Amino acid sequence: MIVTIDGPAGAGKSTIARQLADTLGFHFLDTGAMYRAVTLGAIRKQIDFADTALLISHAQRATIEWQDTRLLLDRDDVTQEIRSPIVTDSIKHIADIPEIRESLSDQQRRIAECQNIVTEGRDQGTDVFPHAECKLFLTASPAERAKRRHQQLADLGRPIPLEQILEAQNRRDAEDRGRPRGTLRPADDAVIIHSDGLTFETVVEMMLDTVRKKMQSLQPEASEH
Ligand code: DC
Repeated sequence: MIVTIDGPAGAGKSTIARQLADTLGFHFLDTGAMYRAVTLGAIRKQIDFADTALLISHAQRATIEWQDTRLLLDRDDVTQEIRSPIVTDSIKHIADIPEIRESLSDQQRRIAECQNIVTEGRDQGTDVFPHAECKLFLTASPAERAKRRHQQLADLGRPIPLEQILEAQNRRDAEDRGRPRGTLRPADDAVIIHSDGLTFETVVEMMLDTVRKKMQSLQPEASEH
């Protein structure tokens, strides 16, 4: 069974999707991490972001693998580095290229083949897995998402003004929604969860409930004797 979770930056998708996968005993795929890894590789190789052909061949050659929760790019552990601001700010140069999206989408489909998986990103329920059995779209208001991020960073000892976080978030939302391929949007058959005012636990419970109902509806009816 494939469960897709799409939604904007800062909606808490990764943590929630990981928890959902753990509870269900499903595999988990963070597709944003793949876009981040390809971006980091391009920065390390100092590829000019205007050189689309070189970016495409770099993306097609890069090997992205997981060892438990660690992400390896060409065998190098990049788990931390892919979260750095320079990577986040440069992703659009990679995510906007249709050939790179196609290559990463193919990898995502291969990973999901024949296994139960929760996969999260922007385009999972729309472009990558249009036939997924269960589709979720997790969102929250811009103010709520920025407030949560602000608190997270403060907890890490990296206080950043709320307005600055909101501004960067609005920019990313516009990029994610404006991309002609892999556009951030809910699939027509997605269940939309708006998490303003809801706790992490409540959101996970709502998702579990949706997935379990879907599983039941897919079970062949027990024959009566
Ligand atoms: O989920 P994230 O914040 O780690 O994703 C980083 C960026 O990667 C996001 O702003 C857009 C891009 N992305 C994408 O284009 N398609 C996906 N399926 C996942 C992420």
